[in-house]
Amino acid sequence: MNPKPRILGIETSCDETAAAVVDGDGRVASSVLSSQDDVHGKYGGVVPELASRRHIETVERIVAAAMQQAGLPWSSLSAVAVTRGPGLAGALLVGVSLGKALAYALKVPLLGVNHLEGHLASAWIDEPDFPRPCIVLVVSGGHTHLFLVESAGVYRLIGRTLDDAAGEAFDKAAKMLSLGYPGGPAIDRMARMGNAAAIRFPRPYRKRSTLDFSFSGIKTALLYYLRDLDRSGKARSVSDIAAGYQEAIVEVLVDKAFEAVRRFHVKALAVVGGVSANTRLRALLTERARAAGVHLSLPRAAYCTDNAVMIAMAGHWLFENGRFNSWDMEADAGWTLPESHGPVERQGPLQGQARRSSSPGPVALSAGRKVHRGRAHA
Ligand code: KG4
Ligand code: ZN
Repeated sequence: MNPKPRILGIETSCDETAAAVVDGDGRVASSVLSSQDDVHGKYGGVVPELASRRHIETVERIVAAAMQQAGLPWSSLSAVAVTRGPGLAGALLVGVSLGKALAYALKVPLLGVNHLEGHLASAWIDEPDFPRPCIVLVVSGGHTHLFLVESAGVYRLIGRTLDDAAGEAFDKAAKMLSLGYPGGPAIDRMARMGNAAAIRFPRPYRKRSTLDFSFSGIKTALLYYLRDLDRSGKARSVSDIAAGYQEAIVEVLVDKAFEAVRRFHVKALAVVGGVSANTRLRALLTERARAAGVHLSLPRAAYCTDNAVMIAMAGHWLFENGRFNSWDMEADAGWTLPESHGPVERQGPLQGQARRSSSPGPVALSAGRKVHRGRAHA
């Protein structure tokens, strides 16, 4: 087997068409991405049919561009990794079909990647030696999940949101405040001009001993706050509201992440996924990590939100572990990751040091993913 496999990654699970080539030593040979914000922006959320159509129109060009940018022949590829789920069914189908066709034509293994595992792997893109064991918080549009990662592709779910994902809470607030889509970056920008202490929103589950999250209450608190404000006839300070709302979410995320670090006696923490692009979250994490002497990894902005480099990276984990797929692989819109993957539970030093989170298992990791983004006006 090639000691340094070279993997083509393809991502089409939602509203980004992306392709990338990553070498076995972690070198990113290319990364090309086409965003669909122009298609969905006016609807306030992703319209699945439009997403699929745009993927069909662009995916071949994006993959060809990734190969060209890498300056490599097709014959140099060791495998093709493609997001198999979770995500929008029609959108996934486009990438999976192309990935299968390419792997078949090139006579290389096909690797069906779980999108969430892709986000997990993104912690190692810029820092291939990022230490393990570590805690990884995946915080995106559909997920708020805490993992204990022991080694490449070996992890255990230790906490998760019981209702909305943090990204969903950002997107919904932006909609209520008429800030447009995608909502997270809009709240982030607005919050920079506001006073985070002016309005205090609830910090759900912050002090509880669980590593689980809950973000639906904070969204309801915003709804009532806006209703009462409208009734009183007072003017809204959108920047103060955005700053206060963002602060509440960020504080909960940071507290839980560091609580996980403490409980599992690890010294490294990575925060990944779209919401990890948030300026305030990054600042507070950096501050806390420095104070606690924790090694913190935050992906650069381009690797926080959906991209194909992370899919190729996760593809390397699958490749190393011999987790290949057969030609009858299908897209799986509701694909759930098992609560643990690999021998984490059975392995030595970490066992018994930590109290398990209260999460019941097995967990439907995909249950919330994209649902709010899946249908405009949902
Ligand atoms: O990882 P991602 O691109 O797609 C999913 O897998 O869901 O994450 C998208 C989410 C959206 O909810 C978006 O509003 C949020 O990430 N997001 C942000 C920021 N940038 C993206 N949330 C807060 N602040 C940001 N700067
Ligand atoms: Zn994602």
